[in-house]
Amino acid sequence: MFPIRRNRRLRTTKAIRSLVKETIITPNDFLVPLFIVEGRGVKEEITSMPNYYRFSLDLLEAEIKCLWQLGLKSVLLFVKVPEALKDNKGTEALNPDGLMQRAIKTVKNACPEMLVMTDVALDPYSSFGHDGIIKNGKIINDTTVKVLAEMSVSHVQAGANFVAPSDMMDGRILAIRQALDQEHYIDAGIMSYSAKYASAFYGPFREALDSAPATVKNIPKDKKTYQMDFANRHEAIRETKMDIDEGADIVMVKPGLSYLDIVRDLRNEVNVPIAVYQVSGEYAMLKAAAEKGWLDHDAVMMEQIMAIKRAGANLIASYFAKDVVKILND
Ligand code: PBG
Repeated sequence: MFPIRRNRRLRTTKAIRSLVKETIITPNDFLVPLFIVEGRGVKEEITSMPNYYRFSLDLLEAEIKCLWQLGLKSVLLFVKVPEALKDNKGTEALNPDGLMQRAIKTVKNACPEMLVMTDVALDPYSSFGHDGIIKNGKIINDTTVKVLAEMSVSHVQAGANFVAPSDMMDGRILAIRQALDQEHYIDAGIMSYSAKYASAFYGPFREALDSAPATVKNIPKDKKTYQMDFANRHEAIRETKMDIDEGADIVMVKPGLSYLDIVRDLRNEVNVPIAVYQVSGEYAMLKAAAEKGWLDHDAVMMEQIMAIKRAGANLIASYFAKDVVKILND
């Protein structure tokens, strides 16, 4: 009862504030997304993601070493596939000498201890920009799942520690687990994008990989038949529990900031690690506002990362990872 309890007592000095701080951010919290392209000497900035780049394999090595030195020990790989190699079957995704497979080896060569996670979905390989194979204007679930399972085996064969299916097909976690186990890859993990919403925040990412859904007759213009409706909350729990039952080691909520209620719901419901993906649109928004001088970039960035962790995230995939860790190290 006031004035016996004065809450400001615990805020009076920096020392007492740090003593009672409930949430702490460390480099161990981060998973660093990386965009890989063909070529040599390529480090190109993504227009809608200032200060974020696509790397060719030769320059990827240096970036990996830099991340490791900063204390960032996990990466999540995405590839930009040349247009000529795209089709409606995911053929190139299974190429043992494809860009992803070579990227995995490059990372492991540069830094054997770096934890390598790979994106498993067909959109960068799809001539239609969809995460699945299309037939008669529909994304065909079970045929797609078979390719995703093969793709996962191929990534692990190349040296990936974890596969991260981001496609939202039904039943893919079980199919991937069975395929990996059949090849005796029992230590290879699965981070499932379990509650992935059909979000407009993925725009800059699709620019980065040139993977936006095609605007062609008879091809769905959005991903609403497989990614979740952002009106739904219970569904996220159902999706996530199913993925855990199918063998997911880590589950994920995506996007981040606008979905922290979902993160907290899941934190209260499940007991596996929860990842949050702070997506490209979230990155772009802060960069744009900071460029205009309307927001303090670093302060808002730290506040947002803190909010994601406070909501219940155990790990955060974020394009801000390097910036955050540099501030932590200062
Ligand atoms: C592809 C994939 C997407 C993202 C991660 N994996 C895009 C999409 O589903 O359209 C988005 C990441 C981001 O926006 O940062 N399956």
